[in-house]
Amino acid sequence: MSRGLLARALLRGRLPVDHCRCQVTSPLYSRYYPGVVVRGFDADVAKFRGWRRLMSGSSTSAAATAAEEGKKEEGKKEEEEEKGGEVAVSSYWGIRRPKITREDGTEWRWNCFMPWETYQSNISIDLKKHHPPRIFTDKFAYYTVKFLRVPTDIFFQRRYGCRAMMLETVAAVPGMVGGMLLHLRSLRRFEHSGGWIKALLEEAENERMHLMTMVELVKPKWYERLLVLAVQGVFFNAYFVLYLASPKIAHRIVGYLEEEAIHSYTEFLKDINSGAIENVPAPAIAIDYWRLPNDATLKDVVTVIRADEAHHRDVNHFASDIHYQGKELKESPAPIGYH
Ligand SMILES: [Fe+2]
Ligand SMILES: [Fe+2]
Repeated sequence: MSRGLLARALLRGRLPVDHCRCQVTSPLYSRYYPGVVVRGFDADVAKFRGWRRLMSGSSTSAAATAAEEGKKEEGKKEEEEEKGGEVAVSSYWGIRRPKITREDGTEWRWNCFMPWETYQSNISIDLKKHHPPRIFTDKFAYYTVKFLRVPTDIFFQRRYGCRAMMLETVAAVPGMVGGMLLHLRSLRRFEHSGGWIKALLEEAENERMHLMTMVELVKPKWYERLLVLAVQGVFFNAYFVLYLASPKIAHRIVGYLEEEAIHSYTEFLKDINSGAIENVPAPAIAIDYWRLPNDATLKDVVTVIRADEAHHRDVNHFASDIHYQGKELKESPAPIGYH
């Protein structure tokens, strides 16, 4: 093999080694989620060792190399067996998710969220807190939400499972729009956001997790999917324009929408308690995301989602208040990780 080829091969082989060094056990993960173990890139270590042998020029016998190769094949087989026979898509870029295990040693089953993104909901939050609309813009926001509730009540009535699933498709939009616009503003003005980009994107992600949970319980029909498509097209653009024009009103509207969401989930709980809605076991995704006990039920899930909505209510009314005081969001530290 020519020197050039060897050098290129060495460079390719070396890159994953750095990955390996920092991913074997991460103190950051352990700090926030004790017991979580992150392992991975063993194949990359083997690859590096292979290249190191090649470059060392040692007189390794053919038999020893064959034995080494045999061991590697065995390792691969074991790895595939661990994954339940599932063969991973091979990647030229060396991208592979590290193996993550829980405290009890079982493998983490979700790719869409990681153990350090899960939390225990603070369900002691005051659910009755309300921002009384006194000034014109607040009244506009309040009555807009009250008006929007009329067609929602007519369409869904007391079908709270379906109602929650459909409304979560809308609820996850404002955080994403606000976060995106603050992100662009930060780039345009060469300035920090005070953590508000992260806080709003966290809210969007949290709302999307509500949807991922609800969709495990209620399967959307074709016409409901069509409705979501139409509503998203209108709502995304309307909220985008509103946020550009007045973030104060935009956040106030979301604050009132969250107050309505708390009311809807309270009614949902009443129907579960009365037996009108069956208290089925909680979906696995909800158990892991909110760190619920294994025997958690729908009632537990609705209770933690309602607490999330109360936190969103606080964040959005707070954001609106900052604007009301003539300040920018970045002037007040964002409530990152406020659950
Ligand atoms: Fe939600
Ligand atoms: Fe919410």
